Amino acid sequence: MSCKSKVCNPPAGADVKWYDPKVSPNIFEAMKETWLDNAKLQTLMTSFRENIERGLKKDTHPTSIVKCFPTYVQDLPDGTEKGKFLALDLGGTNFRVLLVELDVGKCDMKSKIFAIPADIMVGPGVDLFDHIASCLAEFVKEDDVVDQILPLGFTFSFPLMQKGLCVGILERWTKGFNCDGVIGEDVVKLLNEAIQRRDDVKIDVCAVLNDTTGTLMSCAWKNKNCRIGLIVGTGNNACYVETQQNAEMFDEPDMGSGKVIINLEMGAFGDDGALDCIRTDIDKSLDEDSVNAGRQLHEKMISGMYLGELVRLYMVKFTKDGLMFEGKLSDALQERDKFTCTYLSEIEADQPGKYIRQREILNEMGLSYASEQDCINIRYICECISRRSAHLIAAAMVTLINKMGETNVTIGVDGSVYKYHPHFRRLMIQKMTELIKPGFTFDVMLSEDGSGRGAALVAAVAAKKKPA
Ligand code: BGC
Repeated sequence: MSCKSKVCNPPAGADVKWYDPKVSPNIFEAMKETWLDNAKLQTLMTSFRENIERGLKKDTHPTSIVKCFPTYVQDLPDGTEKGKFLALDLGGTNFRVLLVELDVGKCDMKSKIFAIPADIMVGPGVDLFDHIASCLAEFVKEDDVVDQILPLGFTFSFPLMQKGLCVGILERWTKGFNCDGVIGEDVVKLLNEAIQRRDDVKIDVCAVLNDTTGTLMSCAWKNKNCRIGLIVGTGNNACYVETQQNAEMFDEPDMGSGKVIINLEMGAFGDDGALDCIRTDIDKSLDEDSVNAGRQLHEKMISGMYLGELVRLYMVKFTKDGLMFEGKLSDALQERDKFTCTYLSEIEADQPGKYIRQREILNEMGLSYASEQDCINIRYICECISRRSAHLIAAAMVTLINKMGETNVTIGVDGSVYKYHPHFRRLMIQKMTELIKPGFTFDVMLSEDGSGRGAALVAAVAAKKKPA
């Protein structure tokens, strides 16, 4: 479709209302590379489904990209779980320690957030685990539970190859972490060693889990149809309930449910070229400058750690091409990661045609000289990037629902992009509705604290199964 007039027309069949027709024609045209029509999404769905099958099967698992790690969690909660638990939550820029008390359908939580200094995120692994252990010690002392040996659920939200409910070998770092000496090691062992080095607290780590599993458990505790846990936050990933027979990497005897939760690690989808048909030069440039180039390519098109940076890279390109800011770059605009995903959410939360928060953001970015036309264009770039993310998520979720073959599935979701982007949920649901097979229905529910309550539930469900 050409776009010669000042007012651009959307392609046939597109949702006509979503952008301001005053977007500059050149920018409108250039951003079309981020549009994913249903035919492209269907192609990705086929490829994603093949990737999942490869991850599940023993002979293809070693070379598969989407790892489909069995979590060793076989039962969903039924609401009768009871007990007092500790939980640790590591997976983004913050680290949390929680005390969780479950009592038949009730859940009380106390938690404390600790920052993870940037140097620890990329320093020696020993320092990271010492930091975690010291935060845990501070918390149990403050909360006066230092003398009780409480079962602890460790939410460690990176790709872990689990060898048991409390053994998890780190396959790779993601989300800007890159600590030496942890890949190939059991993170529970590293945590226990750090605690022993301190010798002032005692803990009993009884489960290690991914944040997607925590989210699924936390939602399943409230909603019996929940079968998928999804995170669209700093990183992106999902887990789902698979039939044990299909999960060939899970060698345990069937303990009754015949099911096991699979941690897909779907952020890695595309690392073998499966997304090359939709990746743009901007996607490639973001990837090349990241600490994990060539890795997590799906995640880099979807999650909060990257969406703002994609928008910034487009703004820089258009400025250099003389299409924005009269060709003048500010220092902040040239700084990597300076334009955050929070900015993107806030810009899209401005009322259409009003640029109140956007003006403040542009001032923070040293771009007070932006014109009204620049504001229209920036909003449009943000919309294209968040829309593409929501559509990729929709395609992945429908693939999972089709694979499970259940006609009424609830998806439990957590993560800052999903929670704080003003239109993400609507865009995702709209696209899922277009892509889903006739006769299938779904619900999407926001998770309440998957990493805390979910971790406690994994520990509690595991405890229920232990022979007395
Ligand atoms: C990690 C996943 C995690 C996701 C969401 C990804 O970078 O690889 O394990 O579930 O982020 O936090």
